[in-house]
Amino acid sequence: MRLFLDTANVEHIKYGARLGIISGVTTNPSLVSKEGKVNYKKLVQEICSIIPGPVSTEVISQDVPGMVTEAREIAKWASNVVVKIPAGLEGTEATHILAKEGIKVNYTLCFSVNQALLAALAGAAYVSPFVGRLDDIGENGMSLVEDIVQVYRQYPDIKTEVIAASIRHPQHCLAAAKAGSHIATVPYAVLLQMAKHPLTEAGCARFLDDWCKVMGNVKNI
Ligand code: G3P
Repeated sequence: MRLFLDTANVEHIKYGARLGIISGVTTNPSLVSKEGKVNYKKLVQEICSIIPGPVSTEVISQDVPGMVTEAREIAKWASNVVVKIPAGLEGTEATHILAKEGIKVNYTLCFSVNQALLAALAGAAYVSPFVGRLDDIGENGMSLVEDIVQVYRQYPDIKTEVIAASIRHPQHCLAAAKAGSHIATVPYAVLLQMAKHPLTEAGCARFLDDWCKVMGNVKNI
């Protein structure tokens, strides 16, 4: 499973790039707004220059002509940009138009297997089931990821990749990997949590302590 970073924060993306484990970025209007009143195009272009992989950027329009016009404009911003289009009838039609033009679509705000099926049939490059938001309303968000993966696997012609999105904690990430999701897009805080374990920290401290007891207070070789 690949990891994307779910943020529009340039410093966080730079750090993810330094770690060498981030192969894409997903943003949405809420995440971009968190960065203040920015120049959207410049921000997206900067992110696209930091991460060579797919960078998802969402349209604001709710109608088909608006979505298509915005997506065509966004697609010109960088070669690795992917346009996020919300699920639904309008989004499906827009996805179909854009896919035919070779514009990569991330079919977002997906909350059912049927929506994921439409994403694939319309030609979306990615589908983003929102795990945490389903958990929030008492459903099992990860079972949606499992079901989409299972259905897609039955049809080898489907090339749409599953991005487990709305990830809230490392357990979500683990479950997405077990489910066979192609990608999980994780918030920065979750990325940091994934690397940490109290026993790793305690183990390092004890090794250094043992070393210093014998070698003296020398902290490098
Ligand atoms: O990738 C989608 C994500 O940004 C939504 O996450 O936590 O707002 O449900 P959340």
